[in-house]
Amino acid sequence: MTTSLMVLKRSLSASAAMSSAIKHVTVVGGGLMGSGIAQVAAQTGHEVTIVEVNDDAIKKAQKGIQTSLQRVAKKAYKDNSSEAEKFISTTLGRIKTSVDLQGAVKNTDLVIEAIVENLGAKHKLFSSIDSVAPQHTIFASNTSSLPIGDIASVTKRKDRFGGLHFFNPVPVMKLLEVVRTPETSDDTYNKMMDWGKALGKTTVTCKDTPGFIVNRLLVPYIAESIRMLERGDASPRDIDTAMKLGAGYPMGPFELADYVGLDTNKFILDGWYEKYPNEPLFKPIPLLNKLVSEGKLGVKSGEGFYKYNK
Ligand code: 3HC
Repeated sequence: MTTSLMVLKRSLSASAAMSSAIKHVTVVGGGLMGSGIAQVAAQTGHEVTIVEVNDDAIKKAQKGIQTSLQRVAKKAYKDNSSEAEKFISTTLGRIKTSVDLQGAVKNTDLVIEAIVENLGAKHKLFSSIDSVAPQHTIFASNTSSLPIGDIASVTKRKDRFGGLHFFNPVPVMKLLEVVRTPETSDDTYNKMMDWGKALGKTTVTCKDTPGFIVNRLLVPYIAESIRMLERGDASPRDIDTAMKLGAGYPMGPFELADYVGLDTNKFILDGWYEKYPNEPLFKPIPLLNKLVSEGKLGVKSGEGFYKYNK
């Protein structure tokens, strides 16, 4: 049995969460990443509250979690449908939802923000809960590219602030990047690392540098692939096939760019280019900008480099 499957099965007795100082988690933002984080936390015995802006967004998050849990249950309990049902209902039973951010954080050990990649919006969020959340509560951001120190700057708990960066699809990807700023305390860092392990993830420690580890390598790789296409060196299909069969990657760069979202790729590059205009790897890419301006954002919009059935 794989480690993740073992963690999953152990979660029904809620034992995984017992070993961690973090028992209740508030996830702010129930999009693809936020709902994935909420799901994995609930699967491993944590009590979770998802905060969203309205009931429609909550329903969308719940639907996504339900579908994903069915896939997980099918794998974990393929011969036992009653255990699969029990796993799904127990996990869903640990997830509450709210549209009241300040009310939701009054009794929580960890707040993870997974909202839009906008520093102003993140500042607004964390300033509004800093004086409401308990003293011991750790604040974390799942940002793809913004500096954790910049996000934390509006709070009075910079020692209890760090980055917890997950990967899409969160229930499947085994990695968690734990980001510490110079002000993150050892206690906060240790609790974040322990919590990552309680989720069944493998944790790596990252400094608060652009893109941490994975995105700092992955985003320029995707950018270079698009530049290769712009130069007419090879087709998206051939580049994808080459990287899958020649380098053993599960997806080619164009499949991955479409999967992550072309707007996300562009947003990350634009932010880095603004900060580091002399770094050629971060330079704007006309083809990427064109696709985004046409609303071709990848899988989620039905078209990016490839076309998808919605
Ligand atoms: N929930 C639950 N299970 C899921 C799932 C989900 N959302 N998505 C896939 N799965 C499961 C499937 O059920 C399947 O299980 P099985 O092995 O029992 O059949 C398994 O994962 C594999 O899925 P598929 O058969 O549908 O497809 P693939 O074998 O092609 O795998 C993939 C899909 C896991 C996405 C794989 O292609 C992959 O690893 N791709 C690379 C993904 C990646 O690089 N992610 C990181 C992006 S960067 C990022 O997120 C950072 C951010 O800041 C931008």
